[in-house]
Formats: sequence, C-alpha cells, structure tokens
Amino acid sequence: MEDEVFRKAADLLSKAGYAIAFTGAGISAESGIPTFRGSGGLWSRYKPEELATPTAFARNPKLVWEWYRWRMEIIYNSSPNIAHKILSILERINIIKVVITQNVDGLHHKAGSRNVIELHGNIWRVKCIQCGFKTVLEKPPRRDELPLRCPRCGGLLRPDVVWFGEQLPPDVLTRAWEEASKADLVLVVGTTGIVEPAGSIPLFVIERGGYMINVNSEPNRYTGLASIEVRTTAVKFFREIARVLELLNQERDNIS
Ligand code: APR
Repeated sequence: MEDEVFRKAADLLSKAGYAIAFTGAGISAESGIPTFRGSGGLWSRYKPEELATPTAFARNPKLVWEWYRWRMEIIYNSSPNIAHKILSILERINIIKVVITQNVDGLHHKAGSRNVIELHGNIWRVKCIQCGFKTVLEKPPRRDELPLRCPRCGGLLRPDVVWFGEQLPPDVLTRAWEEASKADLVLVVGTTGIVEPAGSIPLFVIERGGYMINVNSEPNRYTGLASIEVRTTAVKFFREIARVLELLNQERDNIS
C-alpha cells in the first residue's frame, strides 16, 4: 500500500472540522473476534435467524444463550488492538469527535474511547424480557446458569443487543444521525455497510458534501463512493496514520 494514500488520509483527518468514525466487526478482527460476513464469518457457520432474532430466543433461549456465552468468552479473552487504541488517541487529540460503532464487544470503551455510540447494543449488558431489569455482566455466565433469569422477577434475561427484525434504540439512532449531520468527514473502518439503518449513516455525510475515508481489507458498499479508499487492515491503517500524523506534527513544528 503506497504511502501516498496514508498521507492523504492523515491530511484530510487533520484538516477536518468535525470528523467522526463509523466502525464494524472488521476493526475487532485483529483482536481475534470473528466478523459476521466474509471468509470465516459467523454467518457462514451459523444461521442468524436461529440465533439472533426474538423468535429464535423465544423458541430456544438456552441455545441462543450458549451462542452468546461462546462469543462472550472470545471477547472476554480478547483485548483492544492498535486500531482501537490509536482511534481513542485521535479522539483525545480532538481529531475524531465520536465513534459510532455497530460492534457490541465494548472494545472501543476498553481502548479509552469516551464518546462512543453503540448502535447495536453491548454484549455485556443484559435485560429482562418481563420487567425490563438491566444489568452489566463482568464475565461470561457459567453454562449451568443458562438461560439467565431475572433476579427481580424470575423472567428470562436476554443480551441487550439489537437482533434482526428489531428497531435500534431511538435515542441512540437519533444521536448517530445528529453526529452525521455535523460531520464533514466520516472515517469508515471494517464494515460491509449493508445492514440498515446503520449502513446509511456514513452515506449521509457524503450526501451532505462531506468526505469519506473507507478502510477495509476488501471492497464494500462504500467502494467507489469514498473520497479515499484504503484497501488494508485496520491495524495497518492506524499504524500508518499515527506515523504520518507524527511526521506532519514534526514538519509543522519545524515550520512554526
Ligand atoms: N481490517 C479491516 N477490515 C476488515 C478486517 C481487518 N482486519 N477484517 C475484516 N474486515 C472487513 C471485511 O472485509 C468486511 O467488510 O470488515 C467487514 C466485516 O463485515 P461484517 O462481518 O458484515 O461486519 P459488520 O459490517 O460490522 O456487520 C454489521 O451486521 O450481523 C450484523 O449486527 C451485526 O453489527 C453487525 C452488522
């Protein structure tokens, strides 16, 4: 991947008035967390309609919980990678204003990102389908605890994530659209972009005349629409951006 594309991306990021990030499963791939689509993706091994829908949960809550427990184990034993960490630094130095993520793994928070919008919920948060009780689990439940029960009313607890066929929490979606309406740059990292309404959020930025940097190891929905297409992994991209921004700062220091 030639240096030029990283310099252009770093230049756009440093000149943006309100840059936001939009991330998907690909940013967590190098933390060892399986993506959903593409080679080895979860949906090539499991049927979402059997594991990630309200009907699936009503039909077999124990099966759905066993699948989420398996995902929680993977996430519990993973950690934020360089991409998550540098993205949190870009927020700290006020280059990135907010991270809008489709991921439920919580790794952006763990990496130090503060302003994070979790469109599809968080795998560590659970809620009671009867009384609405919510709590956050510190670690994966034991197999013999499944399906988890509400300590308040005894009803079934479920992962507080958005399943297929469910609406995103309205306040979360409104916040994401508000951020996109302020953005003049959206940094898209590791998403196919095909799941709605999330996938339309980055498009709103370019429809309003903003820029898009599309970071992905494969072509995706935004390929051909982005101002800068970076065909590489998330870790490689952020490593290069950090290097180039450092150089830019040094150059700026030398000039000023
Ligand atoms: N670096 C960058 N991109 C990567 C990497 C990597 N190391 N590994 C994979 N990718 C890219 C893939 O090319 C693909 O475009 O990440 C994307 C992963 O796509 P999906 O698995 O579809 O994940 P995502 O786009 O986040 O899915 C959106 O679908 O199943 C629902 O709710 C689930 O939030 C999820 C939503």
